[in-house]
Amino acid sequence: MNDLGTGKYAVVIVAAGSGERLGFGMPKAKVPLGGEPMLVHAIRGALKSGVPDQICVALPRGDVELRSICETLTVEMAGSNGPALELVNGGDSRSESVRAALDAVRGDITAVLIHDAARPLAPAEVYERITAALANGAKAVIPALAVVDTIKNVEPAQLGDSGLRVERVQGTPARSQLRAIQTPQGFDLPTLRRAHEFAATLDAEAAAEITDDAMLVEAIGEDVFVVQGSSHSLKITTPTDLLLAEALLQGPLAPRWVEG
Ligand code: C5P
Repeated sequence: MNDLGTGKYAVVIVAAGSGERLGFGMPKAKVPLGGEPMLVHAIRGALKSGVPDQICVALPRGDVELRSICETLTVEMAGSNGPALELVNGGDSRSESVRAALDAVRGDITAVLIHDAARPLAPAEVYERITAALANGAKAVIPALAVVDTIKNVEPAQLGDSGLRVERVQGTPARSQLRAIQTPQGFDLPTLRRAHEFAATLDAEAAAEITDDAMLVEAIGEDVFVVQGSSHSLKITTPTDLLLAEALLQGPLAPRWVEG
């Protein structure tokens, strides 16, 4: 049980993606980082934060190995009086995986933090900032970093007689107003359920454009608030990201779970 006042928190970890871009030929959540699957780091990170009363994990459908690793963790957590760990089968899209996990959230839970297994090193400090904002009345809170690159909107274009395929710049949003958004994202549970009821009505094309839960909360007209994220919460998508995460785990100046 956490000591965050009267709120009871579930952490949902979505781990049902195929992870094709990483090129390991296995679901990304299973790819080893520092000798353990990424998902195990994500679960241990949530536990370390002291936030969850319950953890719900959406696993790749039919993946026996990750399920068995999680079941071992369940026993470990029960032995140390930790939160309950619920395992569900994920869906075809991230948003469907979130909904499958929400179906397993206990009736006494008041707020949910949704986290990607693809961000295995998110530190406890980020969980604390999210829950502090929720405890202060926010219904949706997301962690973010300022953007360092200049970002441009582009459209497909062609050049010359050969029709060389390139892109044409349409515009450049002011960098000072841009943020790169991470997880865990925190929501008051009724707000999140309303947002996902809306998501369930979207057609496949619109659903594919939903890349985080905050987008859905924005779509139903609720305010979404932003707190400071962490460079340790990097999203592992490419082999280069994995190298960086390995270095973060091994670097003597970056001990595990200490914020950078
Ligand atoms: O594909 P992407 O890296 O954006 O996925 C973000 C997170 O959503 C990952 O942790 C992935 O496992 C999860 N996901 C999921 N179910 C899907 C697709 C993605 O749980 N169908």
